Amino acid sequence: MKAVGVHNSLPVVEPNALEDVDIPAPVASGRQLLVRVRAISVNPVDTKIRMTAGSRLDFPRILGWDCAGIVESVGEQSADFKPGDQVYYAGDVTQPGCNSQFHVIDERLVGKKPASLSFEDAAAMPLTTITAWEAMFERMGIPMDPETNKDRSILIIGGAGGVGSIAIQLAKKLAGLKVYATASRPQSEQWCREMGADAVLNHREELEDECKRNGIEGVDYILCLVGTAQYWRAMADIIRPQGKLCLIVDTESNQPVNINLFKPKSVAITWEFMFTRARFQTADMAEQGALLTRAAALFDQGELRHTRTEHYGDLSATNLLKAHAKLESGSMIGKLVLSVA
Ligand SMILES: NC(=O)c1ccc[n+]([C@@H]2O[C@H](COP(=O)([O-])OP(=O)(O)OC[C@H]3O[C@@H](n4cnc5c(N)ncnc54)[C@H](OP(=O)(O)O)[C@@H]3O)[C@@H](O)[C@H]2O)c1
Repeated sequence: MKAVGVHNSLPVVEPNALEDVDIPAPVASGRQLLVRVRAISVNPVDTKIRMTAGSRLDFPRILGWDCAGIVESVGEQSADFKPGDQVYYAGDVTQPGCNSQFHVIDERLVGKKPASLSFEDAAAMPLTTITAWEAMFERMGIPMDPETNKDRSILIIGGAGGVGSIAIQLAKKLAGLKVYATASRPQSEQWCREMGADAVLNHREELEDECKRNGIEGVDYILCLVGTAQYWRAMADIIRPQGKLCLIVDTESNQPVNINLFKPKSVAITWEFMFTRARFQTADMAEQGALLTRAAALFDQGELRHTRTEHYGDLSATNLLKAHAKLESGSMIGKLVLSVA
């Protein structure tokens, strides 16, 4: 089958940082599904793994952890899907990704594709939806109850990116929180408002000052999607006593953070890593497939909207490299996708 892979970790400006390859198609076994991939999306994890995959690899590392496609065949223990089912999923970063014509995936990580979305629009959604959902509803335990949350608020740092775009919607539509997002450009600010943000703060300014300017006297929850160390002090200042903070991005080793800043307010600090369930094969890993199927119903009911903003053509090394370059620019608004022929 055709795929795009990495033989050598190279900067995105190198034309062979990604290569078109021909590799054997995988076979589904156990609880796996063999999926005919129809569309994929790209996330910062792809560019990070491209840069750390290694050099002169004998077998190419296949990237890609956002997929929409059709079940081609199922493993002997599969119980939840059958050939012909339309599915979408993020998958498992410890396994080959979906930048290929066919892909095998544990069915517990797979959701039914939203019927109302094209494969391309559906492929834009799994990884970011899982991240935002797990971060807010599982790690921070935000009740999905607008009545309970009517006086509560959340600050989403990095609101216009892939995760932020769906996080704003989930926080507003499902939790009924007052949502403050950050963005630094007119077009990313506008996008955050379209996603449902009540106010947008400029993260190029001091966030504490931006809060004062917007009459925000603290927030109950903070979802920090970028710049963990950069915003550490501001977050300690802005969060309310007994609030909750969720992080999704590592700090750099040269940027230690002082956890004590959050003690006076008894803030609960938690991490979200959306590959935890797959990586450790946790007993509840089927929750991820269930979450995606639940989100699919919300897309179909018009409660949530997809966040695809760009289409980079068919899957090829050339097109995928352009997509990686866009992600690496740090200026993504919503999500980009590629079709798979
Ligand atoms: N732990 C996990 O499970 C998990 C899951 C998904 C993603 N992640 C990580 O989370 C990060 C965000 O992912 P993503 O998919 O949302 O990325 P993305 O789509 O590439 O994010 C782009 C957005 O980031 C904003 N941004 C850039 N620099 C910023 C800064 N210094 N401060 C605030 N905002 C800034 C930009 O807003 P403006 O243009 O308005 O400045 C842009 O709209 C990545 O590092 C990714 O690897 C982790």
